[in-house]
Amino acid sequence: MFAWTVLVLSAAIVLRAAQSYKPVIVVHGLFDSPGDFKLFQGFINETHPGTNVTVIDLFDHTQSLKSLWSQVDGFKAAIYPIMQNAANGVHMICYSQGGLICRGILSTMPDHNVDTLISLSSPQLGQYGDTNYLKWLFPNYVKSNLYHFCYTQIGQCFSICNYWNDPHHHKLYLNNSNYLAFLNNERENPNATEPAENLEEKQLVIGEQQGTSVLESRFFPQDRNGMLEKEDLLLDSVYMMDLFGLKSLDNQGAIHTFTVNNVHHTKWHSNRTVFDNYILKWLT
Ligand SMILES: *[C@@H]1O[C@H](CO)[C@@H](O)[C@H](O)[C@H]1NC(C)=O
Ligand SMILES: *[C@@H]1O[C@H](CO)[C@@H](O)[C@H](O)[C@H]1NC(C)=O
Ligand SMILES: *[C@@H]1O[C@H](CO)[C@@H](O)[C@H](O)[C@H]1NC(C)=O
Ligand SMILES: *[C@@H]1O[C@H](CO)[C@@H](O)[C@H](O)[C@H]1NC(C)=O
Ligand SMILES: *[C@@H]1O[C@H](CO)[C@@H](O)[C@H](O)[C@H]1NC(C)=O
Repeated sequence: MFAWTVLVLSAAIVLRAAQSYKPVIVVHGLFDSPGDFKLFQGFINETHPGTNVTVIDLFDHTQSLKSLWSQVDGFKAAIYPIMQNAANGVHMICYSQGGLICRGILSTMPDHNVDTLISLSSPQLGQYGDTNYLKWLFPNYVKSNLYHFCYTQIGQCFSICNYWNDPHHHKLYLNNSNYLAFLNNERENPNATEPAENLEEKQLVIGEQQGTSVLESRFFPQDRNGMLEKEDLLLDSVYMMDLFGLKSLDNQGAIHTFTVNNVHHTKWHSNRTVFDNYILKWLT
């Protein structure tokens, strides 16, 4: 199993000259493709030259609507060889929907060697908010009635429904969510190898955006637009009951959350300030 270590910054600086940077694996979000990460790859190339960055070219564009377990299978097959080639481990940067895919990958891959998982503006506690793409995909639905579609077997064939978390229909969510409810161990997951202990990363870095009405819940209770505060985390039962190891990880000081103002949801990976201040330091 991957050992927990303390990040000692001074040692890291001393070793810098001799050490090569760990490979970086990027999992894109809904409707994205590797082309959307050109700027991001450029940032890494410029600041940490020689880093091997792979933006996985799978489930691009509308293919990203496929069910998340099928995407997890596909991404895993592509990521596994990269991990095997990386003796010192890898970093994963998972953007938006990709953040949920990465958790699915890690929860079903007991021998992964992820050092730091960066979840960039991902709806980790699900989504309950109107967005432009929802209006385009489901013109006859709004957020208050989308549960009629999402919490059915057909609905669960769509990625968005896999993490649709309608706080007003929590029982239906628990009964029908084939992905997020399993991932958060709100339902017993037959696919997880080590339920409730599936976060093995040394560090989990969570980037949040503030004051958004687009993706209302990330690591907070639903129906909140507010700031990320530890109090919010504490309130949430997924965290409080340590359903998938989040609290344990936090107790070990391995969770780092950042709330950044004035970054549009689609700009998290292309904003240089975000990269310099919140991402770069983890990519050693
Ligand atoms: C990385 O940066 C170097 C120097 O600026 C440049 O020559 C090279 O093309 C870049 N590589 C990639 C993959 O962006
Ligand atoms: C980057 O990593 C991939 C996967 O491990 C490998 O196939 C590729 O050769 C590497 N590229 C470089 C330039 O090292
Ligand atoms: C609960 O889940 C079962 C099995 O997927 C399904 O057949 C049933 O319709 C669901 N019940 C409700 C009320 O959604
Ligand atoms: C488990 O994984 C299989 C194959 O990846 C998938 O078809 C199935 O829906 C998953 N089920 C659950 C409950 O996680
Ligand atoms: C980039 O992020 C900063 C916050 O770190 C924000 O103030 C700025 O407006 C953003 N720039 C763009 C172009 O989104």
